[in-house]
Amino acid sequence: TPYQVAVLVGSLRQASFNRKLALALQALAPPELALRIVEIGHLPFYNEDEAAAPPAPYGEFRAAIKAADAVLFVSPEYNRSIPAALKNALDVGSRPYGQNAFEGKPGAVVTLSPGGLGGFGAHHHLRQVLVCLNVATLPTPEMYLGGAADMFTADGAIAKPDTEAFLRKFLATFSTWIRKQKAA
Ligand code: FNR
Repeated sequence: TPYQVAVLVGSLRQASFNRKLALALQALAPPELALRIVEIGHLPFYNEDEAAAPPAPYGEFRAAIKAADAVLFVSPEYNRSIPAALKNALDVGSRPYGQNAFEGKPGAVVTLSPGGLGGFGAHHHLRQVLVCLNVATLPTPEMYLGGAADMFTADGAIAKPDTEAFLRKFLATFSTWIRKQKAA
């Protein structure tokens, strides 16, 4: 059976380039990886008072992360950092204390921006948070992707063959990384 990969998309907008990229990665994934988007946009802002009565979406979200073999983040950069919705999802998944849903999962980070910096700032802020959550994040290939507006065809496929090849290489490397981490 393929590794189940929970995909967290950092943008909530309907026409998001990052959501398109997540779906393109899903389509390009090798047979040993099954990518599934886990939604984050409906999660209320984290408040430690939840311990008394956790919002209903929290339980479902935490269970979806726990059930996954690995986590993949596909995110834009907001003001040189990660979008608040994505940070919120990380905070929700990390609690209650001692029950971090992300604990020990292999992970990978992809940032995509219309500009040339490829979301570098967000990318590394996200990696910093993942250290705290004990996610073993794939070091390379470093997926800072720019030029989002030219990345897709009208039907959501990857427009350039060399970009598609790079994404396939990333997915194959991530698959190997997951296998190694699970064996460790
Ligand atoms: C942005 N954008 C942006 N882009 C970037 O490369 N670096 C940045 O720091 C920011 N900052 C930023 C802040 C906020 C609040 C917004 C809404 C946007 C632009 C951003 O990359 C662009 O809107 C992308 O298209 C967002 O990704 P999705 O929604 O297409 O996936």
